[in-house]
Amino acid sequence: MEHLDDQQIKEDDRNYVLHSWSKQKDVHPKIIKKAQGIFFWDETGKRFYDMCSQLVYLNVGHNHPKLMEAFKHIGEIPLSAPGFATESKAELAHKIIEVAPKNMAKVFFANGGADSNDHAVKIARMYSGRYKIFSRYRSYHGATFGAGNLSGENRRFTVEPGLPGFIKFETPYLYRESIAFDSEEAAAAFYLDRLNSQILYEGPESIAAIFMESIPGSNGVLIPPKGYMEGVRELCTKYGILMICDEVMAGFGRTGKMFAVEHFGIEPDMMTFAKGVTCGYSPLGGVIVSKQIADYFDDHVLMTGLTYSGHTVSTQIGCATLDVYKEEHLIDHAAAMGDVLAERLDKLKRFASVGEVRCIGLFAAVELVKDKETKEPLIAYGMDFGRDKVGLMKKFVGMLMAQGFYTYSHESSVMIAPPLIITEAEINEAMDRFEAALTQFEKEVLFADSKLMTP
Ligand SMILES: Cc1ncc(COP(=O)(O)O)c(C=O)c1O
Repeated sequence: MEHLDDQQIKEDDRNYVLHSWSKQKDVHPKIIKKAQGIFFWDETGKRFYDMCSQLVYLNVGHNHPKLMEAFKHIGEIPLSAPGFATESKAELAHKIIEVAPKNMAKVFFANGGADSNDHAVKIARMYSGRYKIFSRYRSYHGATFGAGNLSGENRRFTVEPGLPGFIKFETPYLYRESIAFDSEEAAAAFYLDRLNSQILYEGPESIAAIFMESIPGSNGVLIPPKGYMEGVRELCTKYGILMICDEVMAGFGRTGKMFAVEHFGIEPDMMTFAKGVTCGYSPLGGVIVSKQIADYFDDHVLMTGLTYSGHTVSTQIGCATLDVYKEEHLIDHAAAMGDVLAERLDKLKRFASVGEVRCIGLFAAVELVKDKETKEPLIAYGMDFGRDKVGLMKKFVGMLMAQGFYTYSHESSVMIAPPLIITEAEINEAMDRFEAALTQFEKEVLFADSKLMTP
């Protein structure tokens, strides 16, 4: 590969690359010149705290020595098509089943999150002989045609009119619910009752699966109320519907457990994964299926496949990644650091623009509002992705970047999901920067015309 200087990289990028989810003229990408641990440096030498692990995948941090070492041995195993057995594919599937809920038996490997979800839908339909798929409005499951139809938020609109049989139901979102519940359990009962009605209206015998992110991530880390996920499990069992949990973002330690479903003590029928399985060092995803589903395909053809299912490079990296989680006790560390982060986030509540903070492990969102009383969001629902002309969130994220705090926002929530290796001191340093940016944002932008409300 010829070596381009920074100016040439930017010029070629502007001329030849299409960037995701953006008006191309608004894209002014930085170049990451160097990266280590939770930090990266851009082309000007500025250092950033990577507070969203790139796109919530870099759980082990940048430039991890064990993964860099694994790459050195990649060429030693010959490439082979999915029909062949390879050491890394077999070993990684085994390692995943060892850490998955007890009812899980086998893994189908895919390339990333969206196509894993597509395959889970196909497997559910093949196994159940039913066709309807329930998923939730406040959710993101990927950008392929199938996963786009599963997704509830406005990134779904580009695949509409959607596929027949994809039904949406509401995600519990207590902060924006008009009913003031006495308890989380009461809220869970309310949403479960609504879901039960919707299942009956749609005809349970036609519903193959209920598909949900265990904890919706990009839609603002919406932690389910107590008893909700357990209740969905019960409804699925009652009606013979498969429960499929998307663990693409929440899985592999992000929430302080290996998989987020462990917080609820439930066993789904299938789980999908991607990001944290290789921490993005190589693309990989997959579907984990229960023993019952695995057994079904002993005698029935699994009518799906991918050229790169179980790709040799990615599964080798996956094996090394799972070793890192274990050797460095990263899941326990994430849980402990999650407590530190939660404490810092709690302190943000004193800011006039902080409507709610939500945090579980190192998976957190700060939801900003124009007014705490009315809860008016900074961006009206559905106005993300270049539709919002005022650009308040864009300005705030710009101020975070100026403070060396790298993350992204969705709607009115800012994601905070650093690499799981982050230390207590680093969380505090990064959150000091967050507070500095928020102080500046409130003073210079949000409340520039009114009295400064932040103490
Ligand atoms: C919960 C969830 N599912 C699926 C996806 C899609 O994954 P990918 O972009 O690898 O296709 C994402 C991406 O952020 C996600 O957060």
